[in-house]
Amino acid sequence: MPQNQSDGGRVSRETELAFDSGVGSSAGVSRETGSQEEQQSWHPAGVSRETESKSGRGNGELDTPIARAARAAMTVRGNSDDTWPRPTECRVLSVANQKGGVGKTTTAVNLAASLAMHGNRVMVVDLDPQGNASTALGIERDEESRSIYHCLVEDAEIRDLAQPVPDIPNLWCVPATIDLAGAEIELVSLVARESRLKRSFTAFDNSELDYILVDCPPSLGLLTVNAMVACEEVLIPIQCEYYALEGLGQLLRNVELVQSHLNPSLEISTIVLTMYDARTRLASQVADEVRQYFGDLVLNTLVPRSVRVSEAPSYGQSVMTYDPASTGAAAYMEAAREMAHRAKTGVGN
Ligand SMILES: Nc1ncnc2c1ncn2[C@@H]1O[C@H](COP(=O)(O)OP(=O)(O)OP(=O)(O)O)[C@@H](O)[C@H]1O
Ligand SMILES: [Mg+2]
Repeated sequence: MPQNQSDGGRVSRETELAFDSGVGSSAGVSRETGSQEEQQSWHPAGVSRETESKSGRGNGELDTPIARAARAAMTVRGNSDDTWPRPTECRVLSVANQKGGVGKTTTAVNLAASLAMHGNRVMVVDLDPQGNASTALGIERDEESRSIYHCLVEDAEIRDLAQPVPDIPNLWCVPATIDLAGAEIELVSLVARESRLKRSFTAFDNSELDYILVDCPPSLGLLTVNAMVACEEVLIPIQCEYYALEGLGQLLRNVELVQSHLNPSLEISTIVLTMYDARTRLASQVADEVRQYFGDLVLNTLVPRSVRVSEAPSYGQSVMTYDPASTGAAAYMEAAREMAHRAKTGVGN
């Protein structure tokens, strides 16, 4: 990533290289310039903002599951010219649900990978002591590793902590380490403990990123509150099963509390239905109920239960690279496409 901050002297060479390694990055080009140079740098295939919206669906291409899977596979192999619109400014989203195992991390990682594969520049911030997002993105860590913990508790800079994700240009990850497990307690005694992440985000020039996705832990504690204070949008993954809606009320109340006391610009912008099993009536009942309640916030795409999705993290990969032709990869690709196009039209913003 180009250095355009006055803190250039403090940016380590390692990080500088890390950010500069993205395909199509171009030193010194800001989003504001909107120059041809920028368009070329952000759109490796040379597709302009106008033409790109006509790419993909709606231009006569087949829109069948097989065609989508083929396109997904082509994208991963670098043969796709299907670039998606970029938001006018960086969208900063918390991926949150205090219920465990509903697909927060899987959703954050695979949406991020899909967006990055289509010309967006994306950073995943792993805010969960379990470090699942870091593992799934193939970020190696040990006891010495610096992580989001150092940003929250020791004021390290986001820019210095972000690492490029192997094999996926345009994607970075700020990892989590087990230190983060103690952060919730350490934060209690710090000034403005709910705003530590916001402080770091404010100090970080995100103008050259399109998305920051913060993967939250399964709780409504201080880490999740920090995420909600630092973000403008909340993305809630909901698992299509019986207990899915339990606890959702508490999550919504928490969002309201953060809105009224700490971050008035926070809003729930996106709901993703995960682990959908089309064979059960229950799954479709849950999906219908969620759609009735949240309306247009719910993405049309249903992410199916897919073995390949669950296998991918053990190979340190997103399913987008592990098996791009799988149903799970195709669904996350579609979900990310919806997000990208909503950003352009302003729905949910
Ligand atoms: N679409 C899917 N198909 C099959 N398995 C899935 C799918 N989505 C997620 N999983 C699996 O379900 C488990 C929980 O998913 P994930 O870790 O993304 O949830 P989470 O909400 O982040 O969990 P936690 O609350 O512990 O952070 C993981 O083993 C994951 O691989
Ligand atoms: Mg998780």
